Amino acid sequence: MCETIQIRDAKGHIGQKVRLRGWLRNKRSGKNLHFLIVRDGSGELQCVAAGGSLPADTMGLCERMGIETSLEVCGELSADGRAPGGVELQVSQIGVLQLVTDYPITKKEHGTEFLMENRHLWLRSSKQIAIMRVRDEVEKAWADFFYDRGFVRVDTPIFTPNAVEGTTTLFDVDYHGDKAYLSQTGQLYNEATAAALGRVYCFGPTFRAEKSKTRRHLLEFWMLEMEAAFFDHEDNMRFQEELILDTVRAVLENCEAELETLERGTEKLKAIEAPFPRMHYRDAVKLINDKMPGRGEEFEYGSDFGAPEETFLGEQFESPVFITNFPAHTKAFYMKRDPDDPETVLASDLLGPEGYGELIGGSQREDDLEVILERVKEFKLPEEAFQWYFDLRRYGSVPHSGFGMGLERTLTWLCGVPHIRETIAFPRMLHHMYP
Ligand code: 4AD
Ligand code: MG
Repeated sequence: MCETIQIRDAKGHIGQKVRLRGWLRNKRSGKNLHFLIVRDGSGELQCVAAGGSLPADTMGLCERMGIETSLEVCGELSADGRAPGGVELQVSQIGVLQLVTDYPITKKEHGTEFLMENRHLWLRSSKQIAIMRVRDEVEKAWADFFYDRGFVRVDTPIFTPNAVEGTTTLFDVDYHGDKAYLSQTGQLYNEATAAALGRVYCFGPTFRAEKSKTRRHLLEFWMLEMEAAFFDHEDNMRFQEELILDTVRAVLENCEAELETLERGTEKLKAIEAPFPRMHYRDAVKLINDKMPGRGEEFEYGSDFGAPEETFLGEQFESPVFITNFPAHTKAFYMKRDPDDPETVLASDLLGPEGYGELIGGSQREDDLEVILERVKEFKLPEEAFQWYFDLRRYGSVPHSGFGMGLERTLTWLCGVPHIRETIAFPRMLHHMYP
């Protein structure tokens, strides 16, 4: 009898006979010899099938086995400096669960369209596995970060009765005869729970019906949103710096192998330092108009930055950069005006370095009942639907702030991948929903 192990634990079983179960990642064959690279999800291991010590039918099976054959292997583990990972297994027995000889994803270059159609299989590739592991690490780092600082996770609803972030980006659904929308943000609910618990966050799927087909947009993405009572705009930005630094630290510490698989150089991640630079929106517009190469016409004050402007601004700094003080009418209704510059709001977009675009959007919230009523009117939002939200300004209103951070945007940057579609298992994009 031998113990069944996971490949990640192989190093602890050197000299022992073990069994492992998985899939054939790769095969190299020599004279009367096969090097089988087996993966089981926890790692990869080189298994050596030698004709001298195995019956002819087993060697024949190894000969026929193609990539992604599912199998069970028994044999002794030995330390071997030449084997990837420093351990290998001398095969004494092989059982095939399913023989595969025609796996559609091969070593040759496949086009993106083909890979996206086969996303359910593409996920088994080394780089995709690495990205999913970094994703898991970031989710854990975020949960720990907030837990350690006394924040309470409160899950917010996905069915919502009204728009928050702009009416053009809503998916509507039939709510038994009423119209409901898929959540664009949990923020307003976070504001209510922050008045109960002080410091809260939510983390969940978020839906935007944007007709954008950029390498940064998903129609369904996961957003981390925090809300803290008594935080002002400055506290909010400092907290974002702390979160970014901790996320980078966690990934550098715990995902070394994954970053290597992804060929993601770590130098630029290690160079990030707080405090991050801060730039007034007005100065950002000026910088774009003075220095951004290839701009034909003047960037208009009051416009929203598009992907090219965000890329340009982010590339000017080694660390992420806060753009602050957007003109009030360009941003959401709930943002508080800057008392020193009342045309603008106490909000910030945090742009990632290396041109990865907006990672975080945050603001201090308007906490005055009269002002928020005016702003809801200005934005032509349904006042009725917001009565509960106004109550938060009627009963014990306090200064408070929060932000939202996109998980997939963050991963695109940390993993250094060219397109956001690789950072979620089954991406939902414009005109793309299969599988
Ligand atoms: O700037 P946004 O729209 O902010 C809000 O929704 C606020 N209510 C958050 C808050 O203050 N609680 O979105 C926040 C972040 C963006 O910075 C970006 O990282 C991500 O969510 N994001 C997207 N990620 C992928 N695809 C999209 N279509 C995204 N839209 C926003
Ligand atoms: Mg934003």
